[in-house]
Amino acid sequence: MAKVLATGGMGYIGSHTVIELIKKGYEVEILDNLYNSKVEVLDKIEQITGVRPKFHEADMLDSEKVDQIFAEGNFTTVIHFAGLKAVGESVEKPLEYYKTNIDGTLNILKAMKENNVKHIIFSSSATVYGDPHQDTCDESLPTGRELTNPYGKTKYMIEEILKDVAYADKDFKVTILRYFNPVGNHESGLIGEDPNGIPNNLMPIIMKVSKGEIPELSVFGDDYDTRDGSCIRDYIHVVDLANGHILAMEKSQPGVSIYNLGTGNGTTVFEMIDAFEKASGEKLPYKVVGRRAGDLPILTANAEKAEKELGWHAERNVEDAMRDTIKFLRG
Ligand code: NAD
Ligand code: WQD
Repeated sequence: MAKVLATGGMGYIGSHTVIELIKKGYEVEILDNLYNSKVEVLDKIEQITGVRPKFHEADMLDSEKVDQIFAEGNFTTVIHFAGLKAVGESVEKPLEYYKTNIDGTLNILKAMKENNVKHIIFSSSATVYGDPHQDTCDESLPTGRELTNPYGKTKYMIEEILKDVAYADKDFKVTILRYFNPVGNHESGLIGEDPNGIPNNLMPIIMKVSKGEIPELSVFGDDYDTRDGSCIRDYIHVVDLANGHILAMEKSQPGVSIYNLGTGNGTTVFEMIDAFEKASGEKLPYKVVGRRAGDLPILTANAEKAEKELGWHAERNVEDAMRDTIKFLRG
C-alpha cells in the first residue's frame, strides 16, 4: 500500500485530501511550514479520522531538512500541494513565487530521486491554459500561452519540469491535476478554507463578508457576455477534488498523465451570491465594481478524461458546497 507524503498537507486542499487518504487506510505524513495554514488543522484531522498523521513542520526550501524527512520516511508517493497561490500577490512579488514554487519543487524532486521515490501527484491549475479563447478546456489544449501572472507561470513551468523528469526516468509516474475553482469543505464543518491574511478567491471573501470582517463583496464586473453579466467559473467541491487525488494516485502509470478536475458546469458570481443567501438565510452585502484585470468571462472544465480513465466525477454541487461552508462558518 502506498505511503504518502503530502507537502502542503495542512492547507485547504491538502488537509481535505489527507482526510480522504486516511479514511481509505493510507499512511500519510505531512510536510508544511504553516505559512498559510494553522497547526490546529492536525487536531481536526484527528477528530474526523481518529488518526493523527505525522507532521513535519518544515520549509520545502530547506533542502537538508527535506532530504532528512525523505531519508526517514520510506514514502512511495508524494502529493505535492505546497506552494504560494495568490495570483495578485505573485505580480507584486514574482521572485518569492518563483523561489518557493520552483525551488521548493526542485528540492522535493531531488529528495525523491535520492530516495528512489518515483510517484508524484501535482496540484496544477486551470490557470495553465492562460486565455484558451474558448469557454471549456480539455487537456489537449496548449498550455503556457498568454499567462498573465507569475503564479500561473510557475504552475506551467512545474508541469514542464515534471514532464522532463518522467522523460528521463521511464519508471517515474507523474500525475498532473488541473483544478478549476475549489470550494466547500468537509461536511463536519470542522475544517475549511482558512487562509492567513487577506483572501483572494471568491468563496473565502464571501465568508469574510458574512462574518463582518469585510464590509461587502465587490463583484468584478456585470457587463460580461454571460447570462447575468458576471463571470462564470467551474466551482468544484473540495471533497470531490480530494477523492480525485486518490483515484489518480491509485491509477497512476509510468509517464505523464494529466487530468482536469472540475464539474463541467459553470456558475456566475451572482448565482454564487444567491446560493450563499439561500443556504444561509442571510443577505450578503455586495456592490458591482469594475472588471478585474486578467479575468476571463467564462472558464469551465471538460472533465471527461478523468471520468473515462479514473472513473471520477464530481458528486457534489454548489448548493452542497454552500451548506458545508455555512456549517464551517458557524462552527
Ligand atoms: P493553501 O495555501 O491552503 O495550502 C498550501 C500549503 O502549502 C499551506 O498549508 C502552506 O503553509 C504550505 N506551504 C507554502 N509554502 C511552503 C513551503 N515553502 N514549505 C512548506 N509548505 C509550504 O492552498 P490550497 O488552496 O490548499 O492549494 C494547494 C495547491 O493547489 C497549491 O499548489 C495551489 O497552487 C494549488 N491550486 C489551488 C487552487 C485554489 O483555488 N485553491 C486552484 C488550483 C490549484
Ligand atoms: C472567481 C470569480 C472573479 C473575488 C483563481 C486563479 C486560478 C485558481 C483559482 C489557483 C471570478 C469573481 C472574485 C471578488 C469577484 N487558483 N470575484 N469578487 O479568478 O477564477 O481563479 O483561483 O490555481 O488560477 O486565477 O478565482 O475565486 O479569484 O474568482 O467578483 O472579490 O469571482 O471575477 O469571476 P479565479 P477567484
